[in-house]
Amino acid sequence: MKAIVYKKYGQSDQLHMEIVQKPVPSENEVLVKVHAVSVNYADWHMLTGTPFLARMAFDLFRPKLSILGADIAGTVEAVGNAVTDFKPGDEVYGDLGLNGFGGFAEYVCAPQNLIALKPVNLTFAETAALPMAAVTALQALRDGGKLQRGQKVLIHGAAGGVGTFAVQIARHLGAEVTAVCSTRNIDLVRSLGADHIIDYTKEDFAANGTKYDLILGINGNRSISDYHKALAPKGTYLMVGGSDRQIFQAMLLGGIVAGNSGQKLGSLLSRNSREDLIRIKELVEAGAIKPVIDRQFTLEQTPEAMSLIGTGHARAKLVINVIPDAE
Ligand SMILES: NC(=O)c1ccc[n+]([C@@H]2O[C@H](COP(=O)([O-])OP(=O)(O)OC[C@H]3O[C@@H](n4cnc5c(N)ncnc54)[C@H](OP(=O)(O)O)[C@@H]3O)[C@@H](O)[C@H]2O)c1
Repeated sequence: MKAIVYKKYGQSDQLHMEIVQKPVPSENEVLVKVHAVSVNYADWHMLTGTPFLARMAFDLFRPKLSILGADIAGTVEAVGNAVTDFKPGDEVYGDLGLNGFGGFAEYVCAPQNLIALKPVNLTFAETAALPMAAVTALQALRDGGKLQRGQKVLIHGAAGGVGTFAVQIARHLGAEVTAVCSTRNIDLVRSLGADHIIDYTKEDFAANGTKYDLILGINGNRSISDYHKALAPKGTYLMVGGSDRQIFQAMLLGGIVAGNSGQKLGSLLSRNSREDLIRIKELVEAGAIKPVIDRQFTLEQTPEAMSLIGTGHARAKLVINVIPDAE
């Protein structure tokens, strides 16, 4: 099968199309014919081996994996002996980021507990835009942030993959949403339902005196003390994505900064959950949320898509159509 392979940490020029062995599902896995796969910043972390703290969790000197691509949408082609939940022909989607990636290819094996049936009202390309970003946004708002109707939430980094879902899910949960993005993305985040928009090139969210019940730090290199300044007395700040410095601050300084105030400052690590894939499917089918795709690519163009995500300024989601008509 065709796959986009890398052998060394580096930039997009490390990615090459190769013909590799088609994978064979083990007893609890399904073999998925990949129609579309979206690009996440997690793919860039794995390609570049950054942030350095995370590299210790995968491999210090050379990548263990050879094929990136976490968020897949496709058709089940074959199932392992112990698979009871899926059959050949089922249209499925899922996030393989904690299970070896492998989606920048014509076929990938996925454990049955990491996939769910695809939303009926979306194309494969739209479906591939969902898994990691939408599930992370859901878990950050609902589980980490315990967001309640009427509360004020600040979404810092609202125009990217996670942010575009966070704005929509926060609105759906009945919160008052303030989205932070740059000038060129104001119309996008407004169209997703943000009540207030802060253009970070012109205004500092931490300086206008507004206090938030929940702050999601998804993107933007701001310090924990900036977020603390904008937090309501019993508020929660969750770092979802960031630099080594931000990871360090959220993990090690969060408790110290919060003291006995009743505030919480920490980080959110999303987890695989088929229940949450099903929840996202329900929200999409009910029309409560929708994926936004900024650009689409062919499998051969994967390095181009990866370079764009690597800028840190990709808008919404980028999708690779492994099968050309995946739209
Ligand atoms: N904790 C977890 O489990 C988890 C799960 C998924 C992702 N993540 C992490 O979350 C982060 C975001 O992921 P993503 O998929 O949303 O990435 P992404 O799609 O690459 O995010 C790009 C967006 O970030 C915005 N941005 C860049 N600099 C900004 C700034 N200074 N202030 C505000 N917005 C800024 C850009 O908007 P502008 O062009 O308007 O600046 C762009 O739209 C990554 O670090 C990723 O690794 C963590």
